[in-house]
Amino acid sequence: MALVGIVPAGGSGERLGADRPKAFVVCAGRPLIEWSLDVLESVCDRVVVAMPDGCDDEGPDRVRGGESRSASVRNAVAAADEADVFVVHDAARPLVTRELVERCLAAIEPGIDGAIAAVPMTDTVKEVAADGRVLRTLDRSTLWAVQTPQVFRADILRRALERDAAALAAATDDAWLVDDAGGVITVIESFPENLKVTRESDLRIAEALLAH
Ligand code: CTP
Ligand code: MG
Repeated sequence: MALVGIVPAGGSGERLGADRPKAFVVCAGRPLIEWSLDVLESVCDRVVVAMPDGCDDEGPDRVRGGESRSASVRNAVAAADEADVFVVHDAARPLVTRELVERCLAAIEPGIDGAIAAVPMTDTVKEVAADGRVLRTLDRSTLWAVQTPQVFRADILRRALERDAAALAAATDDAWLVDDAGGVITVIESFPENLKVTRESDLRIAEALLAH
């Protein structure tokens, strides 16, 4: 069974506002992406990275990013015809562990197409109108905040990514598209430290956690 890691790193990191694409911002002494690559490379047969614009580092395991995160994933998936299972993990989540990836992989059994890391919501979540008026409060007991890693059977992920640019841009994670394609997805309880570096404050928290 060929296990291929996919690392979407094609974003510019607008909200972080650094002098370079987010994946290459230094975090606890090394480029952010290196933390994720170490873990994926220790589990997968091969890892394909979707690179940001302007990176000339191309090769079989380095592909161009796309206009959206899902388009980047699609480009990377297209470079791995041999895959039976994909492990997708954002360059922006440096605190992933091998143990978490392995728990997601172990959940792929007959009848299950995907397994995604997530944590139960701790904040109360409300639906709010454009003018700021609260519309309703969601039932927190059924809500999970979804992260990566996200692990999928390769055939269903390939099929799920056969969408137009608008549908790819709307999907903020891969499980969204796999669910749309009829895939059965299960949640694997993760830990809140597996945060996504989005803003400057996240970078500082990640550095403090990685230093431990
Ligand atoms: N990503 C990607 N291709 C894109 C956009 C995002 O591969 N066109 C990747 C990012 O590099 C990141 C992950 O998807 O590893 C999660 O995206 P996000 O945190 O939103 O990163 P950016 O899009 O870079 O940040 P921002 O939205 O603030 O610009
Ligand atoms: Mg983004």
